[in-house]
Amino acid sequence: MDKLIINGGNNLSGEVFVSGSKNAVLPIMTATLIVPGTYKINHVPLLRDTKTMITLLEIIGAKVVYSDNTLQIDTTKCSNPHAPYNLVKTMRASFYVLGPLLARFHHSNVSLPGGCAWGPRPVDFHIKALREMKVNINLSKGVIIADGQPCGAKIGFKKKSVGATGNVLMAASKAKGETIITNASKEPEIVSLGHFLIKLGAKIEGLGTERIVINPIINENNNVEFDVIPDRIEAGTFMIAVAAIGGDINLRDVDPSHLESVISHLKKLKICIDIGDNNIFISSTGNYKSINLETHEYPGFPTDLQAQWMALMIKAKGSSSIKENIYHDRFTHISELSRMGADVKLNDNIAYVRGVDDLYGAPVMCTDIRASAGLVIAALCAKSQTEISRIYHIDRGYENIENKFSIIGASIKRIIG
Ligand code: EPZ
Repeated sequence: MDKLIINGGNNLSGEVFVSGSKNAVLPIMTATLIVPGTYKINHVPLLRDTKTMITLLEIIGAKVVYSDNTLQIDTTKCSNPHAPYNLVKTMRASFYVLGPLLARFHHSNVSLPGGCAWGPRPVDFHIKALREMKVNINLSKGVIIADGQPCGAKIGFKKKSVGATGNVLMAASKAKGETIITNASKEPEIVSLGHFLIKLGAKIEGLGTERIVINPIINENNNVEFDVIPDRIEAGTFMIAVAAIGGDINLRDVDPSHLESVISHLKKLKICIDIGDNNIFISSTGNYKSINLETHEYPGFPTDLQAQWMALMIKAKGSSSIKENIYHDRFTHISELSRMGADVKLNDNIAYVRGVDDLYGAPVMCTDIRASAGLVIAALCAKSQTEISRIYHIDRGYENIENKFSIIGASIKRIIG
């Protein structure tokens, strides 16, 4: 297995070009199944997860060509509405095919996703909503067997769920009648999925709010080109990295409006941030006081940047708390950061961090995509060398991370294992 070798201490400076959003492109790729057609999707990052999704689409019968960050997808000949366990267990986002396959075939067998490093990842909201849309759903040997054309319904989520909002949007795009979702997710990735469905011919109002109204596609548009939005989590990762390590970088191809909570938290640390239309300039001395953090659904501070924020706070001046409100046990990075000298105590879903003056390189292990990014940031701050193993986790969600960091001055290299 590949490893990253990082020698910390270098200030960062230069330009980072942000890739297309993993969490936006994955549902859009599944949405191409809804209407048999040909699709050109631009700004697609080359990741383990996008490769996994390409494999899944091909198993369902799509023809997919990827080149130079562009996907050409032809779903005219799809015929196999099934998503197998061996793929779904490696990537929870595979579960996004359920809504599109029901929309198109009125039938689908999708394996239940397993858990992940930080605990169970239930799909009960998805199942409850689809049943309310008159879809028959049974579970047999870990596979969800879904039958019936979705019917328009009033769906009220008791808790916001990005994935469940996405699946209902896609099922509703070919349902019999109007669907209204309340307590919907407002993430930019869901808004972008909605824009894609509108291009297919759906009538959707309320994207970006908690109440979305969907009327199904009548006149299908089966030849669509679409640009994937920038990856706000990758952008936030680099912003937090330069804040922690020190230096100044200009983030390009980014949408600052997707990062308002991250920007406001970094400004509280007196980090210098200048915002352009599609760039963010950020400058830091690498010295800052600690502040407390809570994660929330969008537009709050994203859970996907919690580990990276912890890497920032472990060498801040003072103590702070980090409360994780989305996944109460998303803290597998604490044990690895502690190996580098971090002082973090956990009580239920709140981590208590006491800032230390220095971090030290050590062999550490990735446990999930975003915890891995936190380890990279800590390693770039540490004195001496860090070896990070199991970096297939990083490769699931970050395109060329070592190249992007080395271009701005980091001492980081990949050892092919
Ligand atoms: C999406 O996951 C993202 N993944 C996650 O990013 C992100 O952390 C998460 O949203 C929250 O923002 C993709 O977009 C591919 P949820 P998703 O349904 O849709 C509970 C990354 O690193 N819940 O919004 O699975 C759930 O346990 C990944 O890129 C239920 O209880 O998240 C959690 O506590 C990691 N039942 C909360 O809701 C359900 O049926 C939010 O989950 C569904 C969710």
